[in-house]
Formats: sequence, C-alpha cells, structure tokens
Amino acid sequence: MKVLLVAGARPNFMKIAPLYRAAQVHENLECLIVHTGQHYDYAMSQTFFDDLELPEPAHFLEAGSGSHAEQTARVMVAFEKVCIKEEPDLVIVVGDVNSTLACSIVAKKLLIKVAHIEAGLRSFDLTMPEEINRMVTDSISDYFFVTESSGLENLLREGKSEEAVFLVGHVMIDNLLHQVEKLKECDTSAFAVAELKSKHPQYFFMTMHRPANVDDPETLNGIVDCLNRIAEDYPIFFPVHPRTAKMLKQFKIKLSDNISCFGPLGFRESLYLWRDAIAVLTDSGGLQEETTALGIPCLTLRENTERPITIELGTNILAGNQPEGIMKAYAQLSESFAVGEGSTGRRECKVPKWDGRAAERIWQILLP
Ligand code: UD1
Repeated sequence: MKVLLVAGARPNFMKIAPLYRAAQVHENLECLIVHTGQHYDYAMSQTFFDDLELPEPAHFLEAGSGSHAEQTARVMVAFEKVCIKEEPDLVIVVGDVNSTLACSIVAKKLLIKVAHIEAGLRSFDLTMPEEINRMVTDSISDYFFVTESSGLENLLREGKSEEAVFLVGHVMIDNLLHQVEKLKECDTSAFAVAELKSKHPQYFFMTMHRPANVDDPETLNGIVDCLNRIAEDYPIFFPVHPRTAKMLKQFKIKLSDNISCFGPLGFRESLYLWRDAIAVLTDSGGLQEETTALGIPCLTLRENTERPITIELGTNILAGNQPEGIMKAYAQLSESFAVGEGSTGRRECKVPKWDGRAAERIWQILLP
C-alpha cells in the first residue's frame, strides 16, 4: 500500500511524526511525506523536522504565504502533480490548515481515498478559516479518525456512516508523550531559553497567533493590556509567531518588560518551557490539548473551542479575547489551580485513548 502523508504548517508536523514512525514496522506499507511549504521559515518548519525525527520530505511543494485563495490554489496545483506521479492508494491529511483542505480536494477528485486525522472537530464559528477547512475536508473524506467524543457526535449528526468513523485517540498526544521521554535525554542547558528559565522558578507561558486576536488593533491592544497586568504578578515567556510580530510592530503596541519575547521555538524547547509553567495562555488548538494531557492549567484566549473535552475533562478555561473575560478567567484560574500559593495544580489526564497509541490504531484500521 502506498500512502502520501501531508503536512504543511507547524501544527501538522507533530501529528505526522507518530504516523510516520508507526508506519515503519509495516513491511508492505510505503509512506511518503509531502511538505506543502505552507510554513517555510526555519523556525516554523525545519526545526520541527529535526526535533520530531522526521526524514526529509519526499516532496516539498514550496507553496508559501499569500491570501487563502492563493495559498490553497498553489498547494492544489503542486499536489495534483505529485498525486499523478506517485499514484498513491491513500492520502492522509491532518488537522485543519489550508494544506489539509487543498490536498483532500485534489486527492478526492483524482479518485484517491482520503483519511482525515483529527476529523469531526467543530467550533461552529465560520469566521475561523480552520472551521471551513475542517467542514470541507470532512465532507469528502473516506476515513475519519477522531480524537474526542464530540468529534464522533458531530460526524454522526452530519450523516457519516458509523463504519467510517473511528475514535482512536490523538496522534499529537502520541508525539507529546514520546517527546517528554526524549527531553529527559536532552542537554537542555544548550537551549537558548535555559538561562531565562533558571532565573524564574514561576512563570506563565504564552502563545498567540489567530487572526481574530492579532489582526484588529483594538482587540490586540485589549489582550496586551491584560498580559501586562498578569505580568505584574508573574513573568510571561512569549515565543512570538511571525503574524503576531508583524501586527505588534504595525500597531506600535508595547509589551511589559516582564514579558520575555523571542522568536518561534522548536518543539522540544517549547515543551521544556511550558511543561514547567504555572499555566499556559494561548489561542492555539494544539496547546489546549497538550496542556490537558500533561495536566498543566491552560487559559484559552478564544470565545469558543472545537476541543470541548479539554474543558470537560481537562485543564482548559475559555477566557475569550476581551479584557473583562480574560481577567475574570485569570482570577478563576488562580482559584481553581491555586496559582500564587506555590501549587502548580497538575492533574492526571482523563481523556480516553490519549495514551500514545493512536497512530498504531490508525494503521491497524487502514492496512488490509
Ligand atoms: C496557519 C494555520 C493555522 C495554524 C497556524 C500555526 C491556516 C488557515 N492557518 O496560520 O490554523 O494554527 O498556521 O502556525 O492554514 N509566515 C512566516 N514564515 C512562515 C510562515 C508564515 O513569516 O514560515 C508569515 C506569513 O508571511 C504570514 C503569517 O506568517 O504573514 C501567517 O502565515 P500563514 O501561513 O498565512 O498562517 P498562520 O497564521 O501561520
């Protein structure tokens, strides 16, 4: 069986890594990585291939940035050529980025079966580009691999056949648990952020990049005001996404000196920081889940989440992106996780099947 495994943007690389690794034990399986080049900077892409022990991709499509239509179109044109050349039996797409959408459409129109990993998640917010990508990809996929029960419910409600939907756990958590072990063998003193961490026993870790949070000056200003207030209590470590860096500069917004900003981090360096944070502030989808898996308190700067299990069984609190909501959630966080009383409030992960074996389960289902 020949499979193309597609990744394009930063949150995809950690999801394909366990699938690629688990594929190696199957003799009759040829698994080729296709990197669409949606993310192309070293810090957004290559460092992840290194940290995640991924080989050079078999195909690199150099799609690059641009408007949604330009980016999606460039991925589609390039990926069609790859599919025609390779004639795969199956295309695997992960997550909800533009590359996920582009490659699933191309494969399906060439009558190649499509498996969607992380299927069925819904924020019900169509102002999010990812929600459109999720819905369209799920409308044409053949296999749906689901991370949490809400995904199962959404897909069945949308009329998918029970035989095509599989609750397998989460490949991103497979990767996380693998990397937690790898980090133990790592010389962390070589990390650029090691000195910063050693100076601050208690800190918050922060990521933010969503257009809804960073593209509008009033919203971004309001969020930064809150961060500056939180930074009066605790230092904040903030690896800044290129989109956010651009907007902070454009709107001339100033962050408190107690917020340490640096460029995007590799997977391990980032994990090294957030797993020991008092709590994480984020608008990322992945970090809501990863913090839940390791029991780290998480405050999400969004009005909704397509990952409700992180609130029901995990450590996530939805704060929204308006100052009042953020400060209220910060107060709630302090209370529920005893922030400020020396406790880091770690909890055990209670999410079913987030046990590091999702990739294995997926291959068992897909292979004849
Ligand atoms: C994309 C995904 C989002 C994901 C995020 C993680 C979509 C619709 N969005 O958003 O779901 O959470 O990745 O990072 O697919 N840029 C660089 N270097 C790069 C890549 C981008 O400087 O390697 C700059 C671009 O010029 C652009 C900005 O960052 O101005 C945004 O990049 P883009 O790929 O459009 O979307 P993301 O916001 O990263």
